[in-house]
Amino acid sequence: MASLTVRKLDEALKASLRLRAAKAGRSVEDEVRMILREAAEAPAKTQSSPARSTPAQPHRPRTPSATDLPRVTLIIGGGIAAYKALDLIRRLKERGIHVRSVMTRAAQQFVTPLTAGALADERCYTDLFDAQSEFDAGHIRLARDTDLIIVAPATADLMAKMAQGHADDLATAILLATNRPVLVAPAMNPLMWANAATKRNVAQLARDGVSFIGPNSGEMAEANEAGVGRMSEPTEIAIAAEAMLRPLHTGPLAGKKILITAGPTHEPIDPVRYIANRSSGKQGYAIAASAADAGADVTLISGPVDLDDPAGVRVIRVESARDMLAQVEAALPVDIAIFAAAVADWRVASAGEQKIKKTASGMPPLQLVENPDILATVSKRQQNRPQLVIGFAAETQNLIDNATSKLKRKGCDWIVANDVSPASGVMGGDRNTVHILTRDKADIAVDSWPVMTKEEVAGALVAKIAETMEE
Ligand code: CTP
Repeated sequence: MASLTVRKLDEALKASLRLRAAKAGRSVEDEVRMILREAAEAPAKTQSSPARSTPAQPHRPRTPSATDLPRVTLIIGGGIAAYKALDLIRRLKERGIHVRSVMTRAAQQFVTPLTAGALADERCYTDLFDAQSEFDAGHIRLARDTDLIIVAPATADLMAKMAQGHADDLATAILLATNRPVLVAPAMNPLMWANAATKRNVAQLARDGVSFIGPNSGEMAEANEAGVGRMSEPTEIAIAAEAMLRPLHTGPLAGKKILITAGPTHEPIDPVRYIANRSSGKQGYAIAASAADAGADVTLISGPVDLDDPAGVRVIRVESARDMLAQVEAALPVDIAIFAAAVADWRVASAGEQKIKKTASGMPPLQLVENPDILATVSKRQQNRPQLVIGFAAETQNLIDNATSKLKRKGCDWIVANDVSPASGVMGGDRNTVHILTRDKADIAVDSWPVMTKEEVAGALVAKIAETMEE
C-alpha cells in the first residue's frame, strides 16, 4: 500500500493530530503513519506465543529524520524553466536539504507533480482547497514548517501577485502566510523582465525583504530571442539557498547591512541605443561576495553586466543612473554603503521614443544633462546616512590628487582610488592596484596596496571595513 487517505475524521481528532505532528516536527501524514506502525507492532508483540520468544531486534542506529535537515519549500511557477526546478530538487537534496515541492496550476502545464514528488520523496502540493493536502500539511504549515521558501521559476505574473499580496492559490497563500526568508529566481522573456511593471514589482519585493537570484542573460526558449531573463542555473540557486540557510551571525560582519553598487549604467539615446562605459562590475561583485562571506546582509545594485549573482547576495539589476539612485534610496537604511559602480555622468536630455533616423540635415544634436551623483547624494543625507560610506575613484591621471578632491567634494568617508588608464588593464581585467584614502581628522591618509586580484582587493577591503566597524 503506497498511500493512505483517511476521510471523515472529526475536527477535534484532526486538531489533535496536527498538534501531535507539530510537536514531533512531522507532517500529519507522517504522524499518522507512525501511529499506525506502533499500533500494528503492539498486538504482534502481545499475541506472540510465550514459548517461542521473538528474537531481539537488532539495534538500529537512529538515522537523521527528514526533519533534522534544513528544509526548503520549493514553489515551482509556470514557465519553461520549470524543468530546471526538477534538477534544483536534486541539487538541494545532494546538499543535504529536505525539499517539499509546490506547483502552481500553470507549472503543471510544463512538468508534473508526480515527477517533482518522486524527486523530492514527498508528494508535491498543488491545491489550496484539496482536502488531502490541507489535512497533510495545510498551507500554513507549508509556509512555516520550512527554513526557506524558494520560488523557481518565478514568472512575472507570480511576482506581481506576490508584490500585491494575492493569495488565490496554494503557492501565493504560502508566500503570504510565511514568516521565513524567500528566495526568488525569476525567469521570463527579456522584454517582460525590462517592463516597468515588473521592475516596480521587483523593487517592491526587494523592499519587502525578498532575496533574488538572477535572472541571467542568455538565449531564450523562443527562437532568436536573447537577453536578461534566463533563470539562474539550479546549482547557482542551490548555492544561494545554502548560503541563506547557513546559520546567521557568523563572520566579522554578522548583523551588518551593506549596500553595494556595481557595473556601468546604460543611458538610453533611443529605444535601441545607449551611452555606456567599459566597467565589467567584477570589483563590485567580488566585494559583495566577500562581504556576504563575512556574514553581512548584502544588497547589490548592479548595472548591466555579464556576471552571475554572488551567492547569498540580494541582487537588484538596473539600467540607468536614475534607476540606480532610486534602488539605492529604497535599500536604505544600511550600516555601510560601497559605491563601486561606474555611473554614467550624463544622460540624453530627452531620449527618443522612436529610433533616431539618419536625415539629409546631418547628425542629430544630442543634448546631454548631468545624472544625479549617487555617492554624493547618500554621503550628504541628513537622515539614514550609512555609518561608513565608501566611494571609488577611477582615474587615468593624477590619481591621488583627483581622488583626494573627490573624497572632499562628495563627502564620503573613504575613497578606493585606482588607475584605469588603458595601460593598467583594470577595466574588464582581473587585477587591480588600489590606494585607500581615509579621512584622518583634517588630513587624508593614503594606504597603497600592492597589485592584487579583484577578489583579493575585495577580501582586504572587507577585512579593513570589519576592523573599522569593530573600533
Ligand atoms: N558616482 C556616483 N554617481 C555618479 C557618478 C559617480 O555614485 N553619477 C560614484 C561612483 O560610483 C564612484 C565615485 O562616485 O564611487 C567616483 O566616480 P568617478 O566616475 O570616478 O567620478 P565622477 O564623479 O564621475 O568624476 P569624473 O568622471 O570627473 O572623474
